[in-house]
Amino acid sequence: MMTPSDVKATLSFSDGSAAMDLPIYKGTIGPDVIDIRKLYAQTGKFTYDPGFLSTASCNSTITYIDGDKGELLYRGYPIEQLAENCDFLETCHLLLYGDLPNVAQKADFVSRVTNHTMVNEQMQFFLRGFRRDAHPMAVMTGLVGALSAFYHDSTDINNPQHREIAAIRLIAKMPTLVAMAYKYSAGQPYMYPKNKLSYTANFMHMMFATPCEDYEPNDVLVRALDRIFILHADHEQNASTSTVRLCGSSGTNPFAAIAAGVACLWGPAHGGANEACLNMLGEIQQMGGVEKIGEFIRQVKDKNSGVKLMGFGHRVYKNYDPRAKLMRETCHEVLGALGLENDPLFKLAMALEKIALEDEYFVARKLYPNVDFYSGIVQRAIGIPVSLFTAIFALARTVGWIAQLNEMIGDPEYKIGRPRQLFAGSARRDVTPLAAR
Ligand code: SDX
Repeated sequence: MMTPSDVKATLSFSDGSAAMDLPIYKGTIGPDVIDIRKLYAQTGKFTYDPGFLSTASCNSTITYIDGDKGELLYRGYPIEQLAENCDFLETCHLLLYGDLPNVAQKADFVSRVTNHTMVNEQMQFFLRGFRRDAHPMAVMTGLVGALSAFYHDSTDINNPQHREIAAIRLIAKMPTLVAMAYKYSAGQPYMYPKNKLSYTANFMHMMFATPCEDYEPNDVLVRALDRIFILHADHEQNASTSTVRLCGSSGTNPFAAIAAGVACLWGPAHGGANEACLNMLGEIQQMGGVEKIGEFIRQVKDKNSGVKLMGFGHRVYKNYDPRAKLMRETCHEVLGALGLENDPLFKLAMALEKIALEDEYFVARKLYPNVDFYSGIVQRAIGIPVSLFTAIFALARTVGWIAQLNEMIGDPEYKIGRPRQLFAGSARRDVTPLAAR
């Protein structure tokens, strides 16, 4: 809901240029927006906001974040309540259609997703082109984009039926593709989906089962991984979601737009942080563990070192990321269930968090653990290799990307995204012929 505020913003110029009134709009909760859509036409000037620190790119009803309170709501429901009372497919239904499913709606949605878990047999031949040690995110970027070659019946993003079936196919097939990427790297045969299993148990089966023996997913680990999927499902207009929106705004097919999101998520400042965080903890462990935390923190504070405390800090959260709290609880549960309470990396992470939260450098910059700080420890305990962490993030975030893409495409007013620039290069000049250069 976007309602005009009775407060106006007036833009005036000290050089006597004509002032301009800018309308302000209010949302349901959160900051108001100043509507600058007519600014360039009326003033010949652009706004300037690289990194989009003060820019709302869209009007959305899906996810709300209050960075100061450390609050995260999916369609109004607090993440803590969803993590406690729902499973990932209920959360997918919520993000896609706007509300939690009742029993019948859940059964129908689960059935539709379950019936699309297999991928075309040709997909396996894409993997053969990669080296076995290719990073799983390189493989996933290729596989997700390649899906568009198989579904010519659902690539018209402006067709609501195509959007619906593409959403179901992507949610259903991401676990299969991630598991295939893992099996390929391990040199093991792919495991087909077992549709009698739940979504997340099916993923664990495709990841860890082999043709040689029966495999029973551990219920505690399945529940923990399902919760990890819920915590990563959507997060407002983050870098990869903004990439999906911008890519989809050209009218490209949903598979290509989601592949763009996978590529963006890979970066260590974004979804790649969970892998980077676990590698960081391993390095501190190598240095000598808890006793060496002080030395590591000194490196982080030294701007010239280029060392960051991975899994800490956030563009929006200037308080504790609510997902990090839930992830830490999941850590306790999983490590307890596996008899790994004394896992040295978990103890190191908690010691590092305690020291950082008491250190003026981090306090002054409002740097708190984010979703990536503990997620790697849980995934490692579940048996997921570090290099696959970001692919797991992409699996979970696919529903958020699709929900955001479909919201944009479903808005009759949407246009192709086309930002402008401040040009600081050479003004017009003539070419000097080669002989005279
Ligand atoms: C995700 O946007 C989302 O919603 C993303 C995400 C999602 O669900 O989609 O939440 C997922 O990407 C979580 C973030 C994962 N990234 C990391 O953990 C990487 C480490 N974090 C940083 O790179 C950083 O905190 C960012 C990228 C997350 C945020 O960067 P900003 O908002 O641009 O902040 P900044 O870089 O301007 O930092 C402000 C200050 C700077 O110091 P000064 O120049 O003021 O002296 O804080 C410092 C930074 O140097 N700083 C850090 C730090 N993060 C910021 N210093 C040490 N370690 C860090 N992690």
